[in-house]
Amino acid sequence: MMKIKLLLSIVILFAFVACDTKEKSHLDGAQLIKQKCASCHNLDLPPKTFKDEKAPPMMAVAFHIKDFIDASNASEKIPKAIEFIKDYVINPSASKSFCDKKSLQSYGVMPSQKGKVTQDELQVIGEYMFEHYSVKNLTEAQALQNKLNKMPRGERLALKYNCLTCHKLNKDLVGPSFAKIANKYKDDSLYVQESIKEGSVGRWKNFRGARMPAFRDKIADEDIVILSEWILKQSKVP
Ligand code: HEC
Ligand code: HEC
Repeated sequence: MMKIKLLLSIVILFAFVACDTKEKSHLDGAQLIKQKCASCHNLDLPPKTFKDEKAPPMMAVAFHIKDFIDASNASEKIPKAIEFIKDYVINPSASKSFCDKKSLQSYGVMPSQKGKVTQDELQVIGEYMFEHYSVKNLTEAQALQNKLNKMPRGERLALKYNCLTCHKLNKDLVGPSFAKIANKYKDDSLYVQESIKEGSVGRWKNFRGARMPAFRDKIADEDIVILSEWILKQSKVP
């Protein structure tokens, strides 16, 4: 009797676990919106717009709907906005659209996605849209983009290729600081380029035999030139 009970509870436990993981992996808003909507709507935050775009960027759609949806109080706004999306995607029309007349004319009314996306999927897509496309996320994304735009290209590349997980500008980390490297090799950019391509170990004392990985096949030659020249400029800060 004990055994049967135990077995039963294990079976039930597994059934729940299986259900739970299935539901989660199946209904992931970020993934669904990419699969079902990205062929027409640009999903970037901040959005990129193109001359011949097929539809308004998704951020514009989300902001739009939140601005224009009729709701008597704030807590009803998002649920109502999601209901609007669930209806609109299946039954779109010029009269329901919140797009201004001119854009509507240039895009044409959205073709119904009936049969291509379920109401449950649209619920998850809607929840994702109003969570992801928020003023807060937009502000953060713009701040990050501004920061990246202001960085020298060399630094951006160092960030992109994870050099900065092992090197800092003025402080030793896993590898020597870029300032020390610059002081040692002065303006020998060719040497530094070769070093980055080949990697090294044991050239620097006090790094406990840590290895500099070879980047020959991972970074384009012209990017290695930019990286090297940028590193050699860091010598002014010892
Ligand atoms: C085949 C291209 C296409 C696909 C796929 C598509 N859309 Fe659209 N969508 C459009 C176009 C074009 C418009 C602009 C015209 C309009 O408002 O109907 C639009 C408008 C909308 C609007 C109304 C915007 C407003 O401001 O009123 C919503 C909501 C929307 N789309 C949601 C979605 C969602 C969610 C998906 C994915 C499930 C999706 N769309 C997939 C083309 C598409
Ligand atoms: C996993 C950690 C790690 C990463 C990632 C890393 N480095 Fe290094 N780097 C090191 C270590 C450790 C050394 C010292 C190796 C030695 O003693 O020979 C080093 C040394 C160097 C040197 C000096 C080589 C020499 O010949 O003296 C340069 C230049 C350099 N790294 C550039 C880079 C660049 C550019 C990147 C990114 C593309 C990068 N590193 C990524 C760990 C790393």
